[in-house]
Amino acid sequence: METTRRRLLVRGGTVVRPEGTEQADVLCVDGIIETVGPDLGATGKDGDVSGGKSTTEVMDVSGKLVFAGCIDTQVHFREPGLEHKEDLASGSLAAIAGGVTTFFEMPNTKPATTSPEALADKLARAGGRVWADHAFFVGATAENADSLGEWENLPGCAGVKIFMGSSTGSLLVDDDVTLERVLRSGTRRVPVHAEDEARLRERYARVESGSPVRIHPHVRDPEAALLATRRLLDLAEKTHRPVHVLHVSTLEEVALLRERDLKGLVTAEATPNHLFLHAPVCYERYGSLVQMNPPVRSRDHQDAIRQAVVDSVIHVVGSDHAPHTLAEKRQPYPSCPSGIPGVQTTLALLLTAVREGWLRLEDVGRITSAAHADIYGIDKKGRIEPGRDADLVIVDPTIQEPLRLEWLRSKTGFSPFVGTLTHGWPTTTILRGEVAYEAHAPSGKPRGLPAF
Ligand code: DOR
Repeated sequence: METTRRRLLVRGGTVVRPEGTEQADVLCVDGIIETVGPDLGATGKDGDVSGGKSTTEVMDVSGKLVFAGCIDTQVHFREPGLEHKEDLASGSLAAIAGGVTTFFEMPNTKPATTSPEALADKLARAGGRVWADHAFFVGATAENADSLGEWENLPGCAGVKIFMGSSTGSLLVDDDVTLERVLRSGTRRVPVHAEDEARLRERYARVESGSPVRIHPHVRDPEAALLATRRLLDLAEKTHRPVHVLHVSTLEEVALLRERDLKGLVTAEATPNHLFLHAPVCYERYGSLVQMNPPVRSRDHQDAIRQAVVDSVIHVVGSDHAPHTLAEKRQPYPSCPSGIPGVQTTLALLLTAVREGWLRLEDVGRITSAAHADIYGIDKKGRIEPGRDADLVIVDPTIQEPLRLEWLRSKTGFSPFVGTLTHGWPTTTILRGEVAYEAHAPSGKPRGLPAF
């Protein structure tokens, strides 16, 4: 019996890849990219675009940009336990609305994801409710350190996350002996929140309640970040375990990463917050709404991080989408929680950087998808090439208007980037060959599946 194949021809757009941009069509068959090339329909290469019995759906994207679906390897979606801030459904809807077709979610939920049971619970909750493909990190602790090597290979697992400095939640591994045990248990790349816990404790002890939030980058100072990142690089070299320095926030860490080029052993991430905000202006304008860990710092740090992204010293941009309610964020410093939503706005912000001239379109393709796939071994995603999942995001470069709060899908109801003039907006997100989000609305039902 003849089976009908599901064919989608994305026609007439400018395909953006790390290697460059080109006018090309993308033919997707049964959710997989089959061919990428010029005039696939017109030349008849796909055979039946205009035929009477055609099952090929044609999407005309002339004048638009076609990116690989973004991969965001650092989001906090808060379920279980903190669903008043966000949940897997709302967080993943924000993701797909912003062109993110795959997310890796962090383990500092309540309870924390520190066991196979907790991982299985998250996967079960995701089933039928999540809009994008996904995987979940297991959090490292002194208690589970020796089991992590086995657990990191469980289905749906993104790997192991380490908090060297405490942030939201109680996950923490702050001594080198336990860190070494964690790094020797397993082989997958380990993302690390690198701030030195001893230094943070000492400095927080001197903070008076009600102090202005603008002191945050001095409380969690550049030295706290540098100390931890240096210890991490030493341990990576000693154990030969690949690590990923999350949310690089200082020019000193950038200098260290440039100096100690440990090749593929060490990769790094920047967040849109550190790329597009700087102190003291951001604290004057938004107060504790822009408080995050590690903090947003002054312009010289921002410039160094931008240059490191351009030079591939920092490999990826991850949002660190970390939602809290407005009421929580408005508590006095230092009790107000740290974190900013961002999964939906990363791609749009990076397009403003292209317009400003410090980033190229192909860099955006590299840092939002291909590099994530490369460093975490997501072989079936992250590039527009035959054989990979047909995860695509269509950007309309003519949408140049202030970013609107009503476009945003996170439960948080705020973003410091509302009002930013866009230079392109993701209008259509395609997950495995089917439209998942279009014109500010979801399409169909949540279809997200585990990426591993
Ligand atoms: O600001 C932050 N918020 N940094 C983190 O590392 C955690 C995150 C959260 O989960 O709220």
